[in-house]
Amino acid sequence: MKDRIKILLLGKGGRESALARKIMESPRLEKLYMAPEGIEGTETIGVDPLDFIGIAEAVERHGIDLIVPGGANPIVSGITDFFKPLGVKVVAPDAACARLESSKEFAKEFMIDNAIPTARFMTVTHDTLKEGLSFLDSMRPPYVLKADGLAMGKGVFILPSLADAKEMLTDMLDGLFGESSHTVLIEEFLRGKECTVTLALDGEDWLALPNSRDYKRLLAGDEGPNTAGMGSVSPVTYADADFMERVEKRIIGPTLRGLKEKGLDYRGFLYLGVMEIDGEPVLIEYNVRLGDPETQAILPLIESDIVEILEGIADRTLGIKRLQVSKDACAAVTVASEGYPSICEHGHPISGIEEAEAMGCIVYPALMHTTYDGKRLTDGGRVLTVAAICETPAAASLKALAGAERIKFDGARFREDIGHDL
Ligand code: AMP
Ligand code: GLY
Repeated sequence: MKDRIKILLLGKGGRESALARKIMESPRLEKLYMAPEGIEGTETIGVDPLDFIGIAEAVERHGIDLIVPGGANPIVSGITDFFKPLGVKVVAPDAACARLESSKEFAKEFMIDNAIPTARFMTVTHDTLKEGLSFLDSMRPPYVLKADGLAMGKGVFILPSLADAKEMLTDMLDGLFGESSHTVLIEEFLRGKECTVTLALDGEDWLALPNSRDYKRLLAGDEGPNTAGMGSVSPVTYADADFMERVEKRIIGPTLRGLKEKGLDYRGFLYLGVMEIDGEPVLIEYNVRLGDPETQAILPLIESDIVEILEGIADRTLGIKRLQVSKDACAAVTVASEGYPSICEHGHPISGIEEAEAMGCIVYPALMHTTYDGKRLTDGGRVLTVAAICETPAAASLKALAGAERIKFDGARFREDIGHDL
């Protein structure tokens, strides 16, 4: 093992900023590179995370030891498989394992095969539209429709009206999300409390990171469309040790056994989207990466050296690692542009970052761009995340919300009820 290593982190979002800041705390780090764009303290490699050949050239040129993809796209596209024959370590599962996220149908079949509790569902394609419409008739509102493939967190619809659900099913199968929605899942609506359980897996052993809660709807009171995440809090008070024991028994254990049986050697982070219903865990989904904005609330609480965890995943040496976690809580609030999660404007000047930081908040840049003369401009939907650490989830949320209040740009918005229920 090298004393100090060079890491390339892929992706541009709040999750990657949080990972970068944590990685930079490590005495094991020689240098951190980021693509397509770095944050302060890192070196930018202007390569698209899906341009594996461009990444390979950068790896060779800079002598990079470890690649860490943040988002799902490079993972699902096989970045781990691409670099394996080149002897370059990637902290992510291979494409075969990544089907747990890239195909909701595959994931649901995996859950059924392994007796993992999940929502009742039906898979529909163009040829079975009639059966799909009858299945909707047999269900009670609200109606849950999901594109089978990746849709940037925007392929899930929860619709109160049967007529709207039928129209949406037809539109999705007609290609609303291109290939991603050529197959659609209709799912029973689960009523409960959500909790994200994040695991680090090395193919043999696993560690659970602190659990978290994501606020997925756009508006306060869980109203409005689903987004990729408007805020998060860690830890989650209702996911106590008893509940986590049940998660381990009913979800984690069967998942690990199922992977082994299928010959899948899963090394990477695994995200379990869990719903707590009357104390029992039900699995909504798998993601093959860290969550955004969950990561922004989880990582500030981790006291262990993250580089050792990343290496442990890649080298199959997690078993000897222990995770040190702070007893505090952390909340993260997404500040988004007007129009999000649909089309948003770009290029609005941002102010208030220093004020939020002066209050003791952490500001993680996401879709934000800094010009050559230091001006910060909005650059998409989720512009930045404001996080805060306090003794309790409620206090952390209040502080992060007060920090988010300081951030100003045309059309800035955030959910004012992040953490209100904890
Ligand atoms: P997914 O991409 O499958 O995680 O869905 C995104 C979000 O939609 C979840 O985190 C939940 O908030 C919500 N959701 C998905 N499926 C269901 C369901 N069957 N019942 C209730 N809410 C759901
Ligand atoms: N916050 C949800 C996700 O990362 O998928």
